[in-house]
Amino acid sequence: MKLAIGADHGGFSLKEVLKKHLEEQGYEVEDFGTYDTASCHYPVYAEKVARAVAENRAQLGILVCGTGIGMSIAANKIKGIRAAAVSDCFTAQATREHNDSNVLCLGERTVGPGLAMRIVDTWLNAAFLGGRHQTRVDMISALEK
Ligand code: RB5
Repeated sequence: MKLAIGADHGGFSLKEVLKKHLEEQGYEVEDFGTYDTASCHYPVYAEKVARAVAENRAQLGILVCGTGIGMSIAANKIKGIRAAAVSDCFTAQATREHNDSNVLCLGERTVGPGLAMRIVDTWLNAAFLGGRHQTRVDMISALEK
């Protein structure tokens, strides 16, 4: 599976941890930056990762900023993206199963690296349940028209 990953300066360090963790598990990871801790603007990286997912250049995306919130707000502006800001494993599983989220957003300032890795693993190993949830996801897609 190919993953797109990105971060701003507030999420750079956690992005590096997650990228290594994912590559060690055999995932192909395309890193859309940022590549250091210099101050930058999170919508730039949210757009890069979200477009990669929306255009099927990656199956799923992961974005990291200080809280995960700015990244999720920005990524959700791209048609076809269902980005979820997550800080616990229950929500990580539920947002794949119920919302078919295709971008996971994390906060380096709100979750430690150990929990973040567990959240990512939970999200990647969960699967969309379809059925009544598909109806609701279709309703979300209709809002984009
Ligand atoms: C950057 O200081 C910070 O605002 C950003 O990383 C993120 O938390 C925004 O939601």
